[in-house]
Amino acid sequence: MCGIFAYVNHCTPRPRKHILQTLVNGLKRLEYRGYDSAGLAVDGGSNATPTIDTKNNNNPSAHIVMIKQKGKVKNLDEKIYKNQELDFEVEFGTHVGIAHTRWATHGVPNAVNSHPQRSDKDNEFVVVHNGIMTNYKTIKTLLEGHGYEFESETDTEVVAKLIKYLWDNKENDDVSFSTLVERVIQQIEGAFAFVFKSRHYPGQCIATRRGSPLLIGIRSESKITTDSIPIYYSSAMKPTLERTESRSEVVTQDAEGGIEFYFASDASAIIEHTNRVIYLEDDDVAAVVKGGLSIHRIKRGNVNESGARVITSLQMEMAQIMKGEFSSFMQKEIFEQPESVVNTMRGRVLWDERRIHLGGLADHITEIRRCRRIIIIACGTSYHSAIATRQLLEELTELPVMVELASDFLDRSTPIFRDDVCFFISQSGETADTLMALQYCKNHGALTVGVTNTVGSTISRMTDCGVHINAGPEIGVASTKAYTSQFVALVMFAMMMCEDRYSKRQRYDEIFDALKALPDLIKEVLSLDQEIVNLSEQLHKHKSLLVMGRGYNFATCLEGALKIKEITYMHSEGIMAGELKHGPLALVDSDMPVLMIIVKDQVFGKCQNALQQVVARHGRPIIICDKEDQESPKCASHVLRIPQTVDCLQGILTVIPLQLLSYHMAVMKGLDVDFPRNLAKSVTVE
Ligand code: AGP
Repeated sequence: MCGIFAYVNHCTPRPRKHILQTLVNGLKRLEYRGYDSAGLAVDGGSNATPTIDTKNNNNPSAHIVMIKQKGKVKNLDEKIYKNQELDFEVEFGTHVGIAHTRWATHGVPNAVNSHPQRSDKDNEFVVVHNGIMTNYKTIKTLLEGHGYEFESETDTEVVAKLIKYLWDNKENDDVSFSTLVERVIQQIEGAFAFVFKSRHYPGQCIATRRGSPLLIGIRSESKITTDSIPIYYSSAMKPTLERTESRSEVVTQDAEGGIEFYFASDASAIIEHTNRVIYLEDDDVAAVVKGGLSIHRIKRGNVNESGARVITSLQMEMAQIMKGEFSSFMQKEIFEQPESVVNTMRGRVLWDERRIHLGGLADHITEIRRCRRIIIIACGTSYHSAIATRQLLEELTELPVMVELASDFLDRSTPIFRDDVCFFISQSGETADTLMALQYCKNHGALTVGVTNTVGSTISRMTDCGVHINAGPEIGVASTKAYTSQFVALVMFAMMMCEDRYSKRQRYDEIFDALKALPDLIKEVLSLDQEIVNLSEQLHKHKSLLVMGRGYNFATCLEGALKIKEITYMHSEGIMAGELKHGPLALVDSDMPVLMIIVKDQVFGKCQNALQQVVARHGRPIIICDKEDQESPKCASHVLRIPQTVDCLQGILTVIPLQLLSYHMAVMKGLDVDFPRNLAKSVTVE
């Protein structure tokens, strides 16, 4: 989904070309989120005096230039350097640049609909936005009634015009930029992260969010004098909103010292500059003014609100967001799985004590054990990880376990009770449907548990407790290593729930030992890569591919089919083998490729029946089976033999050949595996 990146250099002279490169690189880091156009805004003026007057915060070159382009960030980059108006060598002591990748929601992808959106032809206020406003039409009608003319089809333009309206109608000249933004967001319904820039407030940058993620990175050569930013509260819509005096700031020890700020939708765009970040909370209005960062917010009733935002250290490494020797992020992430599952278990599976300790759940485990039911809510691949582990969760917890797609869960207004425990699984921790379901469950008084891969994400902050899966950044839109780590995290949770139960001890031990062996078994499956290349050669030109299995491996069928769909654009269906004769069997003939997952578990016999039904219809199935299985390969056109593990972990091993198959088929079709069409990594809209 849309990506925001902004860069402020205060008292840190930077040539314009450096500023533009920083913005473009920031956008490139956000490309994986999915987008269809890109744009940015910087200060204009080729011959202007480039140095800011820091005392008066007055930059004479403050007219704003916007460059926007449909398509990839590299197209934007090319367009920038064709701009005759810009002197790329001119140096700015202080400067604010804002940039954006847009994933179209309102209006087609084109330059006019791209962000930044502007207040007027003179670009007095410009803004970038991630999210969707739900009441923009009402505000638009109101503004049109006051004579404001719109040029785009976006909801975001309303925000640019609204702030201009508030500026045009301000009660006095002292009104601060952050005050105007506070007034804007009080009028807005829906989800947003905004970053604003204005020629009326040179050197200032204002950022705010509600429902869409936004964080601020801080870099300074001098020591940063604080570890947290106090929050200043104001009351809604009172004229006393001007609080230029109440400034809580990050300042450098030396008042003249330079400082740089980076605003981004996610940490991957910031980590190359600094690991010191602040995650904004909903309705925070963060203002950079004269190199100081302050946070303001409107007090809402008696809500017990925290008084500060902590500056935290990002744990992410730069290498984790680089492709290294791999040709795509997806390929890298598939091959990282022997390590990523270890990272999920690290410090949690206590090998010597034969215990599982999920620190993020420790304080709540007694309450969870006493609950009436567990409900797991997620979307896409994260949902599949819940399907994959439901049977084990039911077995080890002896509780009813419901697994819900977040969107459907909300559509049904599913009854939720105070003694329910609701899990929210999300790689990004920002998926809009999952977030809304989380808010719904909180409102109904359930205990909420987050399982995310993104420290500091909204889900990890909003839930009562949780588990970070620690798979490392996942950049490829198609989720791979996050799935296997979610799987392992949920298995660990199930084990933790039953570790005092004598009746479960044998099962617990069996799974415990299998977890230890898992990384090596994953490596063994990955060694099938070349064999899977050969299989992909046979399959990639087909229009359709059915994936069948049952029991613990049904989730693999759903997940494998999703991978195939999203990156190869082939039709693919994950079919519960038990349902075959209730409809899907009609699809089977000698031309339809059918991939069957048959492993030696309690449904092996039933899978053999399904296999016979396919063969009887002249199907020539491709079979993923255990190395020891002598029976299934007899009927196969192609066999992929994988090592055997305990039944409830087998799905981790069976999904990897499907990840590789989808990857190789997409490469053979010449498709962009990391950025499939129409999809986004972080789905921050409903
Ligand atoms: C997975 O390959 C997909 N890109 C998608 O289904 C994804 O899993 C889904 O959008 C949920 O995302 P989340 O885990 O970040 O919440």
